[in-house]
Amino acid sequence: MLRIRELETGYGKKQVLFGLSLEVRAGEIVALIGPNGAGKSTVLKAVCGLIPVWKGKVRFDGTLTNGAAPSQNVARGMAFAPQGNRVFDELTVMENLEIGGFQLPPKELRERMDEMFDLFPVLKERASQEAGKLSGGEQQMLALARALVPKPKLLMLDEPSLGLSPGLVGSVFKRISEINQHSGLAVLIVEQKVREVLDVAHRVYSVKLGQVAFSGGSDELRDHKERLKELFL
Ligand SMILES: Nc1ncnc2c1ncn2[C@@H]1O[C@H](COP(=O)(O)OP(=O)(O)OP(=O)(O)O)[C@@H](O)[C@H]1O
Ligand SMILES: [Mg+2]
Repeated sequence: MLRIRELETGYGKKQVLFGLSLEVRAGEIVALIGPNGAGKSTVLKAVCGLIPVWKGKVRFDGTLTNGAAPSQNVARGMAFAPQGNRVFDELTVMENLEIGGFQLPPKELRERMDEMFDLFPVLKERASQEAGKLSGGEQQMLALARALVPKPKLLMLDEPSLGLSPGLVGSVFKRISEINQHSGLAVLIVEQKVREVLDVAHRVYSVKLGQVAFSGGSDELRDHKERLKELFL
């Protein structure tokens, strides 16, 4: 679904990624972990077209997408929920979902919103409430639902657990896992809550100084505290 080869990029003159390669296959949940500043968010931004690819290749669903505009990538089936950017506080739940589906024809948008309300009943109950008045966990569900409205093939999430209590982190990841199981949606999750994300991810890449320091099955890391510690040093 997504294949990144030897990606190099950065901001201005500052290079952040130095030949990073990874892939997300159809139906897979892949975790991207690593210390602060390693370049995890930068990977997602480059894939989405929010920053340019300097060198290397990004292939999405069989097409070379390097340099494509974000709106074009969305139309091709990418969805991105950026770090810390949850919902539009002053808009209602329904309006937030409409923004997620702004590229859809009205009839399809309605259908997709109804599907989201089935998937997240708590959002249905609060459809006309301001999003800023939802709890942190509910806002995260809304951010997730908003990203899902256009029916993406690949969902990219940047730290969906940010600011959530430990109990809520588990339930957000559980929903992600259920959606993956039911629809086969491919998911790439950047996450600091390593233990929790390894519980739902099939495979994991650890990024360090803009390169992949480890890749393998989630099981290979989950039970290896020493190895995990090394990856975060
Ligand atoms: N808009 C920007 N302009 C300039 N430098 C940036 C910008 N965004 C990120 N950087 C730098 O790029 C490097 C990688 O940042 P990135 O946000 O990808 O890290 P990260 O792995 O997502 O970290 P965190 O876990 O803290 O979110 C850091 O050194 C950061 O300071
Ligand atoms: Mg980040």
